[in-house]
Amino acid sequence: MKKEFGRRSDGVMAYQYTIQNESLTAVLSDHGATLLKLFVPDAAGNVADVVLGYDSVEQYEADRDTYVGALVGRVANRIAKGRFSLDGKEYALAVNNGPNHLHGGVEGFDRKVCRAAVSNDALFFYFVSPDGEEGYPGTLRCCVQYRLDEDNALHIRYRAETDAPTPVNLTNHSYFNLGGEAMAHTLQIFADAITENDETSIPTGAMLPVAGTAFDFTEAKAIGRDIGAQEQQLKFGNGYDHNFILRGEGMREAAVLRSAESGIAMAVETDCPGMQVYTANFFGDREGKGGAPYSNRCAVALETQSFPDALHHENFPSVVLRPGEVYESETVYRFFTEDV
Ligand code: GLA
Repeated sequence: MKKEFGRRSDGVMAYQYTIQNESLTAVLSDHGATLLKLFVPDAAGNVADVVLGYDSVEQYEADRDTYVGALVGRVANRIAKGRFSLDGKEYALAVNNGPNHLHGGVEGFDRKVCRAAVSNDALFFYFVSPDGEEGYPGTLRCCVQYRLDEDNALHIRYRAETDAPTPVNLTNHSYFNLGGEAMAHTLQIFADAITENDETSIPTGAMLPVAGTAFDFTEAKAIGRDIGAQEQQLKFGNGYDHNFILRGEGMREAAVLRSAESGIAMAVETDCPGMQVYTANFFGDREGKGGAPYSNRCAVALETQSFPDALHHENFPSVVLRPGEVYESETVYRFFTEDV
């Protein structure tokens, strides 16, 4: 189902699309390939929208901080000082987060107008990022597929090809609240270490074991339980805003988020090496969908990704895509309910 979402400030009409199966309904927009709504059944059989968002395209355009629900790229997360060299050439990108480059720059993929194609339970968004856009080299052709499966899951698949070497790291920036207080949700993360950050949230290159720290989510615990711990990493992020180094490789379970209030649980599966856990530490007070009051820590983003600032760390998996190669990545949000 397709309908008008609203006209963007550049005059382009943004549309919204609904895909649906027996259990799930996802509403998406071609503005930033954004996930606007995701309805899932709760333990009582009612339907709940589990992602944050806005009612209008104007609100999405006006928000330059949260990336709520959007596709993020060309390189999600930070690049130190907005500079990198690739094959001996220097590149300068926008510095839009303290001293660093964040989430693709000033006009990142979260603001792209995509071409959409619907097929049964899936929706495809296509767009081209021209050579030089936001300072990145190479023309990048991208496709993001959202698909619902019969096992209560939303699949997001990314595919990109380039005509010149360029870094690529794509994610979706949905914030989840499965019901009640987000900080009371329990979270389990299949990660034994995080990449250590400096005070500007750029990795130092060190991998910090989570054992014995507030970052130990190897057993499920309330997200808010240790968020106030006197640990330097938490102070740097004003809470959790860190890359967890996921165990194993290939498609695997990365995390499980649960609300005891609604009985909704969500498993995250991905083939990405890392996942940024961001507890909306700088959300501020704002009005979301249907007048919902949003504030700091009212939801959690679980951004599957390659490691932040990988261009500057030889020991991190590479984010460089070369002509002839295909960037492919998939993340699945799988829902189930538990008795409350
Ligand atoms: C990521 C970053 C955060 C923040 C959010 C968007 O999670 O790591 O610092 O920028 O995106 O607000």
